[in-house]
Order: sequence, then C-alpha cells, then structure tokens
Amino acid sequence: MCGIVGYAGSRPALGIVLDGLRRLEYRGYDSAGVAIVCDDELLTEKKAGKLANLEKVLAERATDPSSCAAGTVGIADGNTGIGHTRWATHGGPTDRNAHPHLAPDNRVAVIHNGIIENFAKLRGELEADGVQFTSDTDSECAAHLLSAVLAELRAAGEPDGPQLLVAAMRAVCQRLEGAFTLLAVDAAVPGAVVGARRNSPLVVGRGDGENYLASDVAAFIEHTREAVELGQDQIVLITGDTIEITDFTGRPASGKDFHIDWDASAAEKGGYDWFMLKEIEEQPQAIADTLLGRLTDTGEIMLDEVRLSDQDLRDVDKVFIVACGTAYHSGMVAKYAIEHWTRIPCEVELASEFRYRDPVLDRSTLIVVISQSGETMDTLMALRHAKEQKARVLAICNTNGSTIPRESDAVLYTHGGPEIAVASTKAFLTQLVACYLIGLHLAQVRGIKFADEVAAVVEQLHRMPDKLRELLARIEPVRELAREIKSEPTVLFIGRHVGYPVALEGALKLKELAYMHAEGFAAGELKHGPIALIDAGTPVICIVPSPVGRGMLHDKVVSNIQEVRARGARTIVIAEEGDEAVRRYADHLIYVPRTPTLLAPLMTTVPLQVLAAEIAAARGHDVDQPRNLAKSVTVE
Ligand code: F6R
Repeated sequence: MCGIVGYAGSRPALGIVLDGLRRLEYRGYDSAGVAIVCDDELLTEKKAGKLANLEKVLAERATDPSSCAAGTVGIADGNTGIGHTRWATHGGPTDRNAHPHLAPDNRVAVIHNGIIENFAKLRGELEADGVQFTSDTDSECAAHLLSAVLAELRAAGEPDGPQLLVAAMRAVCQRLEGAFTLLAVDAAVPGAVVGARRNSPLVVGRGDGENYLASDVAAFIEHTREAVELGQDQIVLITGDTIEITDFTGRPASGKDFHIDWDASAAEKGGYDWFMLKEIEEQPQAIADTLLGRLTDTGEIMLDEVRLSDQDLRDVDKVFIVACGTAYHSGMVAKYAIEHWTRIPCEVELASEFRYRDPVLDRSTLIVVISQSGETMDTLMALRHAKEQKARVLAICNTNGSTIPRESDAVLYTHGGPEIAVASTKAFLTQLVACYLIGLHLAQVRGIKFADEVAAVVEQLHRMPDKLRELLARIEPVRELAREIKSEPTVLFIGRHVGYPVALEGALKLKELAYMHAEGFAAGELKHGPIALIDAGTPVICIVPSPVGRGMLHDKVVSNIQEVRARGARTIVIAEEGDEAVRRYADHLIYVPRTPTLLAPLMTTVPLQVLAAEIAAARGHDVDQPRNLAKSVTVE
C-alpha cells in the first residue's frame, strides 16, 4: 500500500528511483511521483495513474528545450531522489493528490505511506497559520510541518546540513499519530535522504558509495543484496557513504542487518505475460523451498525463530488463526489440519474483526497470524491486541524484515520468494505448507504425533512439488474453459471440508481479477438459500474430495453436484484422478493428482488460480494490478 523509494549516491537518481518504483508498483498504482535534488535545486514530477503516465511526462520533459537549456540542470542530473507510487486513502487518485508533497517554497519534498490519523487537527492548525494546502491528502501536512520546523531551526541558528533534516523529521514524527513511513529531501541538503517509520514498512539497502531506502527490498535488489531492517519509531539518514539510525527521541539506534537471498530475476517477469502466471508456475519450487530443511535428524519439525519454549506450546489450550483475504483462507484449511492432528480447539478469524469482538485470550492461547507481506495492518493490530492479552503469537510470513514476524514470539517463514502480482498464488500454497508444519510441530511437542508419523506426512508434502508440476503441465483445458465462461454474469464455487476454503479462494480470485460476480459456498449450505441463484447454464465449480478414506464426504459432494445440475447449472468438477463416479455429473472435468485429503488444497486451488487469471486476461484486464487493490494493505 504505497511504494516508497529513496536513493543517495553518485549515480543519476531518477532512473534508479523509477526502476525501484516499477518493482513496487504492485503496492499501489493510483499515481506516481518523484523529487530529485540536483545541485541545490529540487525538481519534481507527479502524475495520476500508473507509473507509465509519469514516465511519459518525464520523457516529454527530457525533450522539451525549455527544461534542458544549456547550463541548466535537469531532473535526470541529480544524485539524490525519492519516489512514490500511491494507493489512495485520503483524497482521490488525481495529479494534485499524487506524492511528493512540497512545502510552499518548493525546497522540501515529502512522500508518505500510511495514514496520519490526526491530520485534520494538524491541517486546521497549519491553515490557521496561513498555510495553503494544494491537495486533499493527509500526507501534505507532513511536508508543511517539516518545512516549518526547518525554518524554526534555521532561525534559531542551527547549522544547515543532514543533521538539521534529521532533527526536523524527529520533531514532525513527534506530532504525528497513526501509521507512517516518510521520506524527505531538502534542496538545501543535497546528497541526503531522511526517512522515518512507525507501523509502516521501510528497509535500507546498503550499497557501495550509495544507499537506498524502500518499502520493500524488491526496489533495490538489482543494486544490492545487503539490507538493514529498521525498528519501530526510528529515523534513518542516508547519504552515499553513511547510514545513520536514531529513534524518535534522538538516541542512536541500530537496525538489523540481513542478506537478501533471492536474486533479482525473481522480481522479473521472465518471458511471461503476467507476473501472476509466472508465480503460478513457480509454486512447485516455492513449496519445495518452504519445506527445505524442516526436519531435524531426530525427526523434529523446525520453525525459524522461536522465542517460545516447548512447555509454552504444551500449555496451549486454544488456537486462533488470524489473517486476511487469501491468507485467511489458508488459515481455514489449517483449522482442519490442526484440530485433526493436535485435538486442540482451533478458531479462524478475520483479522479486521478479531480484536473488535473482545475475544477471550490468555497466556495459554496461541495466535497464529498469517501474512505474506508481514505488514497487513489489520493482522498487525490483531497481533498486538493478542499480545496485550498475554497470548503467544506465532507468525507465518513470507517477508523477512517485516513487522509481523518481528513482533511475534515465533516465526515460520514461507520461502515463496517475491510475489509481485497483487493476487496471491504461491504465497497461498506456501502458507498452507507452513500451516501443516505448524500443526505437526504442535502435535509433536504435545506428544500426540511421533517422529515417524510426522515424517510420513512430511514425506507426503515432499511429493507435492512433483505432483504440482504434473498438474501444471496439463492445465491447458482450464485455459480453454476460461474462454468459454468469460462472459458469464456469475460463477459459483462449492466445496466441503478443506474444499470449502478452496471454493472461497477460487471465488476471491475471480472477483479480484475478472471483476465478475463469484461466490464460494460450503456445498451443504446451498440448499439453505444460495441454490436459488442457480439458473440455466450458471457455471458451478465443484471441489470434490478424494473418494479414498473419506468416502462419505465425497458422496455428499457428488449429491450436491447432482442437486445443482438438476437446476440447470453447468458443472465444472475438480476431482482426484481415477474418480470415475463424478464423470457423469460433470460438464467439464478437471482431474488433479491424488493427494491425501488434508493436503488436497495444494492441488485443487491451482486450476482456480489459472482460471481466474485467464478469464481476467480474456476480459482485457490487467492481471497483475487489478483495479482498486494494492498488494500490501497497511491501513485498517
Ligand atoms: C488476494 C490477496 C489478499 C491478501 C490479503 C492479506 O489475492 O492477496 O487477500 O491475502 O490482503 O495479505 P497478507 O498476506 O500480506 O497479510
């Protein structure tokens, strides 16, 4: 939700900042803008819409004789800069609301990610002092405040330079409430970018004679793999040669160095039309990476960071899984596995609802938070609420250095690599794997499952990458199906047991990518109302459980398929290879490789991902950047 980039070094900043923004555009694409300091001038450009619009304006500017007359500096010349790609919160997606925001003297530029909750009060005060606002955003007040503090400090005789900018940023942060990452440059302080963070992401990239700031390491991965994770309420100053971190009171602070172990090509499309298609294909590897090295020689499951003792886990008497969107669907699957393997009661909650209903939590409650980005504000707030009630928190996360794992008592990282497409695919599958591992770990620590039983399930999990490759190799009929149903007014999804969250996930993918009416239902619930939606030809996608082991569950879904068919539905059946019983009720039959029931979502979800992406493409939509959305939702 909003992407932020900063650069200080000796190379022209503009290209580096724009490249960074391109890699962060998944975080929001309502507008984009840059501010570059060149000599002691501040040059800016911003434009509503996708980054391409800004690039077009910059290209026109480069060929405009008045903006590059002999002897004058141009925006492409500066070595210090900041850039922003926006997901609109306060104020519509217009040119005037695009960042950067400038102080009236055009000497200071600020970009912001988050929400400044007390902005109305601050704006009122600034307007009373005669400041004129040029946008409807909450962010603009940070630029005016910064400019005012700088003026006061200068008037008090403070020497100009990077430290002045840091002191001014500190004073501004002390006045702001809410969530923010701020970056600022000042024409009077060339060569320096100052950043601050509270509840919003900001990482530092450590280069050679140059340094970077960004919401996400993807922005600078092509330049450096060495990064520094900032803590909460910290201010960072970068120049070409230095990185200096302090806290909001001015005390020296330190970040946590980390190495980025995925390479730059992971954040490139690599010949695919869309990142999403590439990420779907990457799923076998992503699962394999998440499983890598999880079993010790003595057969125990390993998490990544554990600040909880085995006794803490033995004391757990209730598990809550808390997450949003797709991550919530992975939690729904996890409930079946965790309860089955551990016999501990397990609830799944939407993070945005969790803390507001005053859940009953204590030291023996385990909260499992699931978040690809590690920055989702709803999930983070649920986590903090749980910690206030003394509950233990275990995070499943894909993003090293993000806030959620840092604030948790234990972490299991999914090793999905960067997920650029806004719609989650490989993150979902790796979250499922992580949930299974946590279920097994809990069962093992509590003495319910023994090393050989755990090893048997892990062995099954290790077979999944090959099975997925097999499935992806014969996915073409799903693409054909997409073309056939792309104009339908509504598509319904039904499933039971772990097939129910898969149905919800399939519907979510179709809604967010194809902008179609799609709904997922527990198959048994249809007859209690939703079956009235079915009309002649309505596509109903049916997730059928394995006939092996849980035959009764299978037969119930087959009955549900017959019910919808009897009302005229066009049935699209996703079933396990060899399941002949479903053939006669299926207008379209998609077989997936045989898989134990609890692990089946690792297979059955994949055709639904492909279906949604292909329908979206066939309808002419941007598959990677669906309208109104952003990848990392850092506001509540
Ligand atoms: C949908 C999707 C979202 C995210 C949700 C949580 O395709 O990606 O529903 O799953 O916004 O995001 P994270 O996992 O980053 O907390």
